Amino acid sequence: MNKIPTHVAVIMDGNGRWAKERGLKRSEGHREGAKTLENLILYAKKVGIKVLSVYTFSTDNFKRSQEEVDFLMNLLILYFNEKLEKVCKEEVRVVFSGRKEPLRKDVLDAMQNIMEKTKNNTKCILNVCFNYGGQEEIVDASLKIHEDLVEHKLKKEDLNRETFYHYLYQDLPPIDLLIRTGKEHRLSNFMLYQAFYAELYFVDTYFPDFDDACFDEALRYYESCNRRFGNAED
Ligand code: FPP
Repeated sequence: MNKIPTHVAVIMDGNGRWAKERGLKRSEGHREGAKTLENLILYAKKVGIKVLSVYTFSTDNFKRSQEEVDFLMNLLILYFNEKLEKVCKEEVRVVFSGRKEPLRKDVLDAMQNIMEKTKNNTKCILNVCFNYGGQEEIVDASLKIHEDLVEHKLKKEDLNRETFYHYLYQDLPPIDLLIRTGKEHRLSNFMLYQAFYAELYFVDTYFPDFDDACFDEALRYYESCNRRFGNAED
């Protein structure tokens, strides 16, 4: 492929419907989605993507049943304690975006642990959005900016759309390609600031079935995009 996006973000939707269609519990869909995510990380690294952001749990997902919330929290711990270290080896650095409150201590510890273990890896960044909301991120950034202005750590004239990134949960490049699986065509409060010029790719496939061939299709779509960033055609 000639044109590889630097930052790819994925809304991994459809785990529940994947499970329902097979007469399984929703949790089975998440378990299968976790396997797909493992593969996605390896594939993204292989094709040279520098940043992969994934939506694993939104602030609004706390509205789900306690059973499902607990399952996803425990899956995160299992995933980061056992699986991801192997997947990341020496190449992928794991960072998190989202609010700490009201996450359990064992979840926060698992997050801290994998961040620490992978902090010197440089080939690719995996940005795990967990207990994440895009509007919440902008509000939290605004509060930090207010603090820095009051404490004279930031001058009003130095704040612009580029420097605003320093105040987000992670200071990452803007999203080039945003993929959403699972039939819906919406952003669902995901990385609203960083997606400002992202190419949007919606695919009907439920996330557990999103394999390398599906990812290639998304990358081919990106390659075909004429990105003008507000400029006029020649
Ligand atoms: C959306 O599908 C998916 C989620 C809310 C969770 C995504 C989680 C994974 C892909 C597994 C990896 C997770 C961790 C914590 C490492 P949905 O449940 O909304 O599906 P539906 O729209 O079909 O109901």
